[in-house]
Amino acid sequence: MELLSLRRRDLIGDIERVIQALLNNVFSDSLSDRSKHDAARGTTTLTLVLWDDPVVIGHLAVFERLVDIGAEPLSVGMIGGVAIEPNHRMRGYARYLIQEAHSYLRNKSIPFSILFAYEPRVYQSSGYRLMENEIRFLDCDDHWKTFVYRGSMYADLMGRRWPNEQIDLRGRVV
Ligand SMILES: CC(C)(COP(=O)(O)OP(=O)(O)OC[C@H]1O[C@@H](n2cnc3c(N)ncnc32)[C@H](O)[C@@H]1OP(=O)(O)O)[C@@H](O)C(=O)NCCC(=O)NCCS
Repeated sequence: MELLSLRRRDLIGDIERVIQALLNNVFSDSLSDRSKHDAARGTTTLTLVLWDDPVVIGHLAVFERLVDIGAEPLSVGMIGGVAIEPNHRMRGYARYLIQEAHSYLRNKSIPFSILFAYEPRVYQSSGYRLMENEIRFLDCDDHWKTFVYRGSMYADLMGRRWPNEQIDLRGRVV
Protein backbone atom coordinates (compact mmCIF):
# COMPACT_ATOMS: atom_id res chain seq x y z
CA MET A 1 0.00 0.00 0.00
CA GLU A 2 1.32 3.47 -0.77
CA LEU A 3 0.41 7.05 -0.03
CA LEU A 4 -0.18 9.23 -3.08
CA SER A 5 -0.07 13.01 -2.76
CA LEU A 6 -1.98 14.28 -5.73
CA ARG A 7 -2.42 17.77 -7.13
CA ARG A 8 -5.50 18.74 -9.02
CA ARG A 9 -3.73 18.23 -12.36
CA ASP A 10 -3.02 14.59 -11.35
CA LEU A 11 -6.71 13.82 -10.84
CA ILE A 12 -7.44 12.42 -14.27
CA GLY A 13 -8.07 9.08 -15.91
CA ASP A 14 -8.10 5.85 -13.91
CA ILE A 15 -7.05 7.35 -10.60
CA GLU A 16 -9.82 9.96 -10.74
CA ARG A 17 -12.30 7.23 -11.62
CA VAL A 18 -11.38 4.96 -8.69
CA ILE A 19 -11.31 7.86 -6.22
CA GLN A 20 -14.77 8.91 -7.35
CA ALA A 21 -15.95 5.30 -7.00
CA LEU A 22 -14.83 5.27 -3.36
CA LEU A 23 -16.52 8.63 -2.65
CA ASN A 24 -19.72 7.45 -4.33
CA ASN A 25 -19.62 4.31 -2.22
CA VAL A 26 -18.98 6.09 1.07
CA PHE A 27 -20.96 9.32 0.80
CA SER A 28 -24.51 10.09 -0.18
CA ASP A 29 -24.98 11.46 -3.70
CA SER A 30 -25.03 15.04 -2.62
CA LEU A 31 -21.61 14.79 -1.01
CA SER A 32 -19.82 12.43 -3.34
CA ASP A 33 -19.34 14.66 -6.33
CA ARG A 34 -15.77 15.93 -6.26
CA SER A 35 -16.66 18.97 -8.34
CA LYS A 36 -19.21 20.01 -5.72
CA HIS A 37 -16.57 19.73 -2.99
CA ASP A 38 -14.19 21.83 -5.00
CA ALA A 39 -16.71 24.46 -5.97
CA ALA A 40 -17.68 24.82 -2.36
CA ARG A 41 -14.31 25.03 -0.70
CA GLY A 42 -12.08 26.47 -3.34
CA THR A 43 -9.68 24.38 -5.32
CA THR A 44 -8.34 21.37 -3.50
CA THR A 45 -4.75 22.02 -2.56
CA LEU A 46 -3.80 18.41 -2.07
CA THR A 47 -5.53 15.07 -2.32
CA LEU A 48 -4.09 12.27 -0.21
CA VAL A 49 -4.90 8.77 -1.33
CA LEU A 50 -4.06 5.39 0.18
CA TRP A 51 -3.56 3.21 -2.85
CA ASP A 52 -3.37 -0.58 -2.96
CA ASP A 53 -3.21 -1.17 -6.69
CA PRO A 54 -5.82 -1.15 -8.19
CA VAL A 55 -7.96 -0.14 -5.21
CA VAL A 56 -8.26 3.17 -3.35
CA ILE A 57 -8.37 2.37 0.37
CA GLY A 58 -8.59 5.92 1.65
CA HIS A 59 -9.08 9.52 0.59
CA LEU A 60 -8.68 12.92 2.20
CA ALA A 61 -8.76 16.36 0.61
CA VAL A 62 -6.80 19.30 2.02
CA PHE A 63 -7.89 22.84 1.22
CA GLU A 64 -6.07 26.05 1.99
CA ARG A 65 -8.50 28.81 2.63
CA LEU A 66 -8.15 32.48 3.49
CA VAL A 67 -10.73 33.26 6.18
CA ASP A 68 -11.26 36.04 8.72
CA ILE A 69 -11.03 35.10 12.38
CA GLY A 70 -12.29 38.17 14.21
CA ALA A 71 -10.55 41.01 12.39
CA GLU A 72 -7.57 38.91 11.32
CA PRO A 73 -7.32 37.45 7.82
CA LEU A 74 -5.71 34.05 8.22
CA SER A 75 -4.85 31.12 5.97
CA VAL A 76 -6.21 27.96 7.52
CA GLY A 77 -6.32 24.38 6.42
CA MET A 78 -9.65 22.70 5.84
CA ILE A 79 -9.98 18.95 5.66
CA GLY A 80 -12.79 17.27 3.81
CA GLY A 81 -13.82 14.09 2.06
CA VAL A 82 -12.29 11.79 4.67
CA ALA A 83 -13.29 8.36 3.43
CA ILE A 84 -11.96 4.88 4.14
CA GLU A 85 -13.06 1.84 2.18
CA PRO A 86 -15.52 -0.08 4.42
CA ASN A 87 -13.43 -3.28 4.68
CA HIS A 88 -10.40 -1.33 5.87
CA ARG A 89 -11.84 0.72 8.70
CA MET A 90 -10.70 0.86 12.34
CA ARG A 91 -7.05 0.30 11.39
CA GLY A 92 -5.85 3.87 11.86
CA TYR A 93 -5.92 4.82 8.16
CA ALA A 94 -8.03 7.96 8.64
CA ARG A 95 -5.78 9.03 11.52
CA TYR A 96 -2.73 8.45 9.32
CA LEU A 97 -4.13 10.54 6.45
CA ILE A 98 -4.99 13.36 8.87
CA GLN A 99 -1.47 13.37 10.31
CA GLU A 100 -0.03 13.53 6.79
CA ALA A 101 -2.32 16.46 6.02
CA HIS A 102 -1.14 18.19 9.19
CA SER A 103 2.53 17.73 8.20
CA TYR A 104 1.79 19.36 4.88
CA LEU A 105 -0.01 22.30 6.52
CA ARG A 106 2.69 22.76 9.17
CA ASN A 107 5.37 22.91 6.48
CA LYS A 108 3.44 25.85 5.09
CA SER A 109 3.24 27.45 8.56
CA ILE A 110 -0.53 27.20 8.59
CA PRO A 111 -1.53 27.49 12.25
CA PHE A 112 -4.93 25.79 12.32
CA SER A 113 -6.86 23.08 10.57
CA ILE A 114 -10.65 23.11 10.53
CA LEU A 115 -13.15 20.42 9.66
CA PHE A 116 -16.86 19.73 9.90
CA ALA A 117 -17.34 16.31 11.40
CA TYR A 118 -20.22 13.86 11.16
CA GLU A 119 -18.63 12.00 14.06
CA PRO A 120 -16.35 14.26 16.17
CA ARG A 121 -14.98 11.28 18.14
CA VAL A 122 -13.03 10.17 15.03
CA TYR A 123 -10.89 13.32 15.09
CA GLN A 124 -10.18 13.73 18.79
CA SER A 125 -6.99 11.65 18.79
CA SER A 126 -5.71 13.74 15.87
CA GLY A 127 -5.92 16.85 18.07
CA TYR A 128 -9.31 18.24 17.03
CA ARG A 129 -11.59 19.94 19.52
CA LEU A 130 -15.14 21.11 19.03
CA MET A 131 -15.28 24.87 18.51
CA GLU A 132 -17.90 27.29 19.72
CA ASN A 133 -17.10 30.06 17.29
CA GLU A 134 -19.88 31.55 15.25
CA ILE A 135 -19.28 30.80 11.60
CA ARG A 136 -20.36 33.08 8.79
CA PHE A 137 -20.73 31.37 5.43
CA LEU A 138 -22.55 31.46 2.13
CA ASP A 139 -25.32 28.89 2.24
CA CYS A 140 -26.59 26.72 -0.61
CA ASP A 141 -29.49 29.16 -1.07
CA ASP A 142 -26.92 31.93 -1.77
CA HIS A 143 -27.72 33.73 1.50
CA TRP A 144 -25.02 34.60 4.03
CA LYS A 145 -25.71 32.94 7.37
CA THR A 146 -24.06 33.01 10.77
CA PHE A 147 -24.36 30.35 13.43
CA VAL A 148 -22.42 27.90 15.56
CA TYR A 149 -22.00 24.95 13.25
CA ARG A 150 -22.59 21.63 15.00
CA GLY A 151 -19.57 19.34 14.57
CA SER A 152 -17.17 22.12 13.60
CA MET A 153 -13.71 21.35 14.96
CA TYR A 154 -10.26 22.88 14.99
CA ALA A 155 -6.75 21.56 15.52
CA ASP A 156 -3.90 23.78 16.59
CA LEU A 157 -0.87 22.91 14.43
CA MET A 158 1.67 25.49 15.56
CA GLY A 159 1.14 26.02 19.28
CA ARG A 160 -1.07 29.04 18.80
CA ARG A 161 -4.05 29.70 21.03
CA TRP A 162 -7.36 29.15 19.27
CA PRO A 163 -9.20 32.49 19.04
CA ASN A 164 -12.76 32.41 20.25
CA GLU A 165 -14.01 34.89 17.67
CA GLN A 166 -16.31 34.78 14.70
CA ILE A 167 -14.95 32.95 11.65
CA ASP A 168 -15.93 34.37 8.30
CA LEU A 169 -15.36 31.63 5.73
CA ARG A 170 -15.72 34.21 2.95
CA GLY A 171 -17.67 31.57 1.01
CA ARG A 172 -19.36 28.23 1.26
CA VAL A 173 -18.84 25.48 3.82
CA VAL A 174 -19.77 22.40 1.83
C1 LIG B 1 -15.06 7.90 9.65
C2 LIG B 1 -13.97 7.11 8.89
C3 LIG B 1 -13.24 8.05 7.93
C4 LIG B 1 -12.97 6.55 9.94
O1 LIG B 1 -11.91 5.91 9.26
P1 LIG B 1 -11.02 4.80 9.99
O2 LIG B 1 -9.81 4.55 9.15
O3 LIG B 1 -11.85 3.64 10.36
O4 LIG B 1 -10.59 5.56 11.34
P2 LIG B 1 -9.32 5.22 12.22
O5 LIG B 1 -9.13 3.73 12.27
O6 LIG B 1 -8.16 6.04 11.75
O7 LIG B 1 -9.79 5.70 13.64
C5 LIG B 1 -9.49 6.99 14.15
C6 LIG B 1 -10.23 7.13 15.47
O8 LIG B 1 -11.64 7.22 15.24
C7 LIG B 1 -12.34 6.20 15.95
N1 LIG B 1 -13.44 5.83 15.07
C8 LIG B 1 -13.35 5.28 13.84
N2 LIG B 1 -14.60 5.15 13.30
C9 LIG B 1 -15.46 5.67 14.21
C10 LIG B 1 -16.86 5.84 14.23
N3 LIG B 1 -17.64 5.46 13.20
N4 LIG B 1 -17.41 6.39 15.33
C11 LIG B 1 -16.66 6.79 16.38
N5 LIG B 1 -15.30 6.67 16.40
C12 LIG B 1 -14.73 6.10 15.34
C13 LIG B 1 -11.33 5.11 16.17
O9 LIG B 1 -11.64 4.32 17.30
C14 LIG B 1 -10.06 5.91 16.37
O10 LIG B 1 -10.02 6.40 17.71
P3 LIG B 1 -8.61 6.59 18.47
O11 LIG B 1 -7.67 7.28 17.48
O12 LIG B 1 -8.95 7.43 19.66
O13 LIG B 1 -8.12 5.22 18.81
C15 LIG B 1 -14.58 5.92 8.13
O14 LIG B 1 -15.38 5.16 9.01
C16 LIG B 1 -15.44 6.34 6.95
O15 LIG B 1 -14.94 6.47 5.82
N6 LIG B 1 -16.75 6.59 7.21
C17 LIG B 1 -17.68 7.03 6.17
C18 LIG B 1 -17.37 8.44 5.68
C19 LIG B 1 -17.34 9.46 6.78
O16 LIG B 1 -18.18 9.48 7.67
N7 LIG B 1 -16.32 10.33 6.71
C20 LIG B 1 -16.11 11.37 7.67
C21 LIG B 1 -16.75 12.63 7.23
S1 LIG B 1 -16.65 13.85 8.51
